[in-house]
Amino acid sequence: MARASAKPKKADSGVRSITVNINGVDYRREVEPRLLLVHFIRDVAGLTGTHVGCETSNCGACTVLFNGKSIKSCTALAVQADGARVETIEGLTHGGALHPIQRAFWDNHGLQCGFCTPGMIMQAYWMLKENPNPTDDEIKLGLSGNLCRCTGYQNIITSVRAAAKEMRK
Ligand code: FES
Ligand code: FES
Repeated sequence: MARASAKPKKADSGVRSITVNINGVDYRREVEPRLLLVHFIRDVAGLTGTHVGCETSNCGACTVLFNGKSIKSCTALAVQADGARVETIEGLTHGGALHPIQRAFWDNHGLQCGFCTPGMIMQAYWMLKENPNPTDDEIKLGLSGNLCRCTGYQNIITSVRAAAKEMRK
């Protein structure tokens, strides 16, 4: 009688090889399927400008662009971004020159502690691509998924309005 093989089956570690393009650079890494995109961006790619506030899709501090659309990167898994193009706050600055939205936040004191700022700016970046000439109500609606615990909303809205004007020139 043939003996059953005693060799145990190798357990699937679950680790996946993925490549994510962030700000034009390909990051190819082995990751666990449970890794959140925000942690891939911060801990694997080392781009810590994207912040983690709540990890429950409430605060918007982790906002990035995913294939051109704004998402909260704590709501996506890194494996879902395999082959995707991601833009983070670091990608807005070119050769040390601030993007007009970053400049507008600077000029109009659109931040206090700065924790929400990368998410606010990335959301504004996406919003102004979609609507280059928003009304104040449209700016408020566009930023409604982003929370500022310092409650500096007035200057944030002023900053986005100023950025929109500059970018239309
Ligand atoms: S950390 Fe993603 S929404 Fe708050
Ligand atoms: S500036 Fe502090 S949370 Fe917005």
